[in-house]
Amino acid sequence: MGTETVTLTGDKAMLGHSGYERREGDLYPTPPENVDCLAHFIDLSNHAAWEPACGEGHISKRLLGYARAVVSSDLHNRGYGSPGFNFLDVQALPRAVTDVCDDFAARPAIITNPPYFDDMPEQFVRHALKLTHVRGGLVAMFLRNEYDMASTGRADLFEGHPAFAMKICVTKRPRWIEGSKGSPRHSYAWFIWDWRKAAETPAAIHYIHPRNARKPTVN
Ligand SMILES: C[S@@+](CC[C@H](N)C(=O)[O-])C[C@H]1O[C@@H](n2cnc3c(N)ncnc32)[C@H](O)[C@@H]1O
Repeated sequence: MGTETVTLTGDKAMLGHSGYERREGDLYPTPPENVDCLAHFIDLSNHAAWEPACGEGHISKRLLGYARAVVSSDLHNRGYGSPGFNFLDVQALPRAVTDVCDDFAARPAIITNPPYFDDMPEQFVRHALKLTHVRGGLVAMFLRNEYDMASTGRADLFEGHPAFAMKICVTKRPRWIEGSKGSPRHSYAWFIWDWRKAAETPAAIHYIHPRNARKPTVN
């Protein structure tokens, strides 16, 4: 991992500041307080969580305070978790996740802030849904607040999707680059799909500022 920057296609606006180039491999660590906002509404205590784009472990480390187990991987070597795993190539949940599910009657959960270039968020969501479906698991993705407003393409992930369960709007905009100046331009939300949700139950929506969210039991 380094501070080297390269130019990639995609949504420059994610930076919330036009003066920065995108980082190599799209590394934007999630401020951990956002994980508290997820855990405030979703009880993760009997979930085996997999963070498949873990970066430097900002989400994973916070999840340790909430989930039964946390497994972390990334395409790149960021000094945390298992490097060299292209999430989109993985064909099944890792054994480290399914073993915990089997041993503790736990549920699998794929939880991440995915890379943002091209259509990676959509690919991550669709792949995570495929991998979790078989065991009735959960998917939680931290995405731009308006991600659910597409009228074509990914609209089926929301309108009428049997597992789309909840949107958690975080009312403090995340600062993606520590120490950067200016106000972050974009709001983010957690989008949650739960394969055990009754298909006819409408998705819930919540709003929360991180200062009001529950705090982890460790770290
Ligand atoms: C926006 S960063 C988020 C990092 C971490 N999830 C967090 O929230 O702190 C996206 C991460 O996705 C990783 N990544 C990019 N493409 C990937 C792929 N195909 N499979 C797994 N990880 C990938 C990058 O290396 C980077 O660490």
